[in-house]
Amino acid sequence: MPLVTVSEILTDARKRTYGIPCFIGATMEMTLGAVTAAEEISAPLILGYNEAVAPAIPMAAGMSMLVRAAKDARVPVATILDHGTSYDACVKAVRAGSSSVMFDGSHLDYEENIARTREVRRLTEPIGVALEGELGSIGGSSFEFTESAGTRQNFTDPQQAADFVDRTKVNVLAISFGNVHGPYRGDNALDLDIVRQVFQHVAIPLVMHGGSGLADELYPQIIDAGISKINYYTTIARKGALATAELCAQQGGNIIEHMLIARRIEFYHQESKRILQLFRAAGKA
Ligand code: 13P
Repeated sequence: MPLVTVSEILTDARKRTYGIPCFIGATMEMTLGAVTAAEEISAPLILGYNEAVAPAIPMAAGMSMLVRAAKDARVPVATILDHGTSYDACVKAVRAGSSSVMFDGSHLDYEENIARTREVRRLTEPIGVALEGELGSIGGSSFEFTESAGTRQNFTDPQQAADFVDRTKVNVLAISFGNVHGPYRGDNALDLDIVRQVFQHVAIPLVMHGGSGLADELYPQIIDAGISKINYYTTIARKGALATAELCAQQGGNIIEHMLIARRIEFYHQESKRILQLFRAAGKA
């Protein structure tokens, strides 16, 4: 199965109203677990590499592994550089073979975000690499919560989103509507009307960052409102780490590395399958 771009698989997701998770992390266990789950239930999948989340895994190694896994998969799998912070980071991801990159200029002034995103577009467009842009700031990170994260003044303006897409020609757009990276707090409320309005104003697939940690029943509502790609990391990575710690404790000293790895792949397989099913991606490949 060829490696596909996020644009290719998300266009179908937008049309048929289902979601595709983008699993971040780029460990071998997460990657094999996610790909085998997608194959088992015939679901499309997105694998992301994020330099801030995985600084111990160099991009060349992490991204190349994702690309290899995508090419070997029996279902369509796209790879993406998550939150590319510079033009050079996007070049590195393209060199490692990624089908898609994200340039995140959401913290910049609006015109500067457009100018820098367009610069990356001049790199990606001629070589058939898909580009994700971001408008409206989500804030925080998968490891920490910032006070301004998820606040209304940072929400995406639907009219501005139309202008941004028109001028940058991004293929997919990440938006802000109360979603936050890392753990959700009690006072975070998602404004799905913003999603519905942006969906009406732009014709390309929409992306939700900070996708993990919500109640299961919210995901179909988020997808029905118009989100096609959901970036998913903190909750699955935390549960995975705790499951590993529990297994080590149960086994005492009687454990060796590859027993652990096999169990970890199985954990990520089961969790990825559950999430793909929750997002209605099963059977869509
Ligand atoms: P969470 O870690 O909050 O699930 O968000 C992941 C993400 O959006 C990475 O871009």
